[in-house]
Amino acid sequence: MITEYFEHPLRERNSFHVEESAARIVEFDDKADLDTLFDKDNTPEKWYVLGGGNNILFTQHYDGTLIHPTGKKTKVLSDDSSALLVEVEAGMDWDEFVCWCVERGVWGAENLSLIPGTVGAAPVQNIGAYGAEAKDIIHAVHYFDTQLREHRTLTNKECRFAYRDSIFKQELRGRAIITSVEFCLSKTPQPNLGYGDLIRETEARGEASLQNIRDAVCAIRQGKLPDTAVLGNAGSFFKNPIIPREDAEQMQAQYENMPIYPTADDNKRKLAAGWLIDQAGMKGYRNGNVGVHDRQALVLVNYGDATGCEVINLSKEVQLRVKEKFGIAIEPEVNIL
Ligand code: EPU
Repeated sequence: MITEYFEHPLRERNSFHVEESAARIVEFDDKADLDTLFDKDNTPEKWYVLGGGNNILFTQHYDGTLIHPTGKKTKVLSDDSSALLVEVEAGMDWDEFVCWCVERGVWGAENLSLIPGTVGAAPVQNIGAYGAEAKDIIHAVHYFDTQLREHRTLTNKECRFAYRDSIFKQELRGRAIITSVEFCLSKTPQPNLGYGDLIRETEARGEASLQNIRDAVCAIRQGKLPDTAVLGNAGSFFKNPIIPREDAEQMQAQYENMPIYPTADDNKRKLAAGWLIDQAGMKGYRNGNVGVHDRQALVLVNYGDATGCEVINLSKEVQLRVKEKFGIAIEPEVNIL
């Protein structure tokens, strides 16, 4: 079923809580609705998929159609002694899905607890946290191709997942609408506790069970990341920069405590943008309605009535300060409209 809204406010539909509006919002709960919406005589000229609105910054009135999936059904496709394959509709809240996995005793999603957003958004930017990424459990992605006007499926490999990246941010940008995602979860316990404080926080709760790991991840996130209901934000505003290994090693010689992470390509290293911003003296910085969060410098916050443009201006200031101090360009992770 399709539900439409016209000239609709967006404040409650974006986690930054900026006050913008959209010419049209279309909610759909069944993938077949997209055949109707993209009927060849009636295709929306300009459109964008709005999931939970957790990774987006509106900087102006949106004069097109925002398409919002609301289907939340799960369907177990196979279930044997080693693995469970489940298809989940795009509109399900991501953390509800993680909770579903933990309750069923299947492994793979627990480190991704409490990431705000919907299941349909997870493959687009290959969400990740605490040493895990959505790509590790995604089996296939079902989407509607608005150019071909047909429903298609990509395997995990075909999605070309990388750090906060996938085919949906590249070739299929502005073309694909994800309708459901298939996940393969393991029945064999496989705790992944290598990242930061996770092992300590988990051990403090007892054995490395699914529930203890989930609780540990939730506690770490809640300790660092502002609650969007209280303080508008979109999680990490910037991506962690990936730079040539030699440059990273040179920097590390200069800044001993600088975090540095391996990447799939051994000639490259990933730096922590939060650390760079922090060291550039911007953590806790406030400029009117907007600021850099005081517990995690990677997060920009709206103290109340900020416009999207104020957030953008702050982000430019942060980029400049990091560039001046370290010579490194940091890029937004958040989608800017
Ligand atoms: N750090 C600082 N100061 C800060 C922030 C971080 O010194 O203000 C240092 C930390 O001490 C740590 C390092 O930087 O040594 C990395 O920090 P953290 O573990 O908090 O992770 P992150 O790299 O800042 C990434 C993801 C987060 C995810 C965490 C945990 C990106 C862009 N962000 O942040 O994802 O929760 O790792 O895995 O990759 C998100 O995407 O919205 C998000 C919150």
